[in-house]
Amino acid sequence: MKAHVYEKGMLAVGIGVLVACGLALVYASVALGFHLPGRTAQIVPQDVYRVAPFNQPGVRQTGPDSYEVVMVAQTWAFVPGEVRVPVGADVTFTATSVDIIHGLNVEGTRLNLMLIPGQVTRNSIRFSRPGVYLIICHEYCGTGHHHMVGRVVVEPATSASSDSSATIAVGSPVQ
Ligand code: CUA
Repeated sequence: MKAHVYEKGMLAVGIGVLVACGLALVYASVALGFHLPGRTAQIVPQDVYRVAPFNQPGVRQTGPDSYEVVMVAQTWAFVPGEVRVPVGADVTFTATSVDIIHGLNVEGTRLNLMLIPGQVTRNSIRFSRPGVYLIICHEYCGTGHHHMVGRVVVEPATSASSDSSATIAVGSPVQ
């Protein structure tokens, strides 16, 4: 079978685009850390507020430099509406919806979750700059959809934490 030179050219371009897309996918997942949110558990949607950890939504510290944000989406609010985390910490969002499908996107970051009623979704992020980040619902969820916002307040590193790390640095060589 003979192919015209232009056909061969187009085939080469097509294969080139496929390879480039494949490499971009690998780069995004390996080097940039993009990955699909994990599906970790399933709850009967009406029971969400009675089941741990959603019976106590909010921020909790899970390690020296890690925090968990437990958040519930409902028409038309995030509960809690505002969370505070320190800059540079490993922050894991654990979230679900109590009623219908909502979205959770932290403005200007790669944190983007789809919240399906009763399905627990989890993903982690590090905020490298302090500031106030808007949480936006990005799935149309009814008349109040465009009012459905929350806030992540990323607080600057405190002098107290740098003091404690200084103490550890001084103490270590003695042991
Ligand atoms: Cu919730 Cu749109």
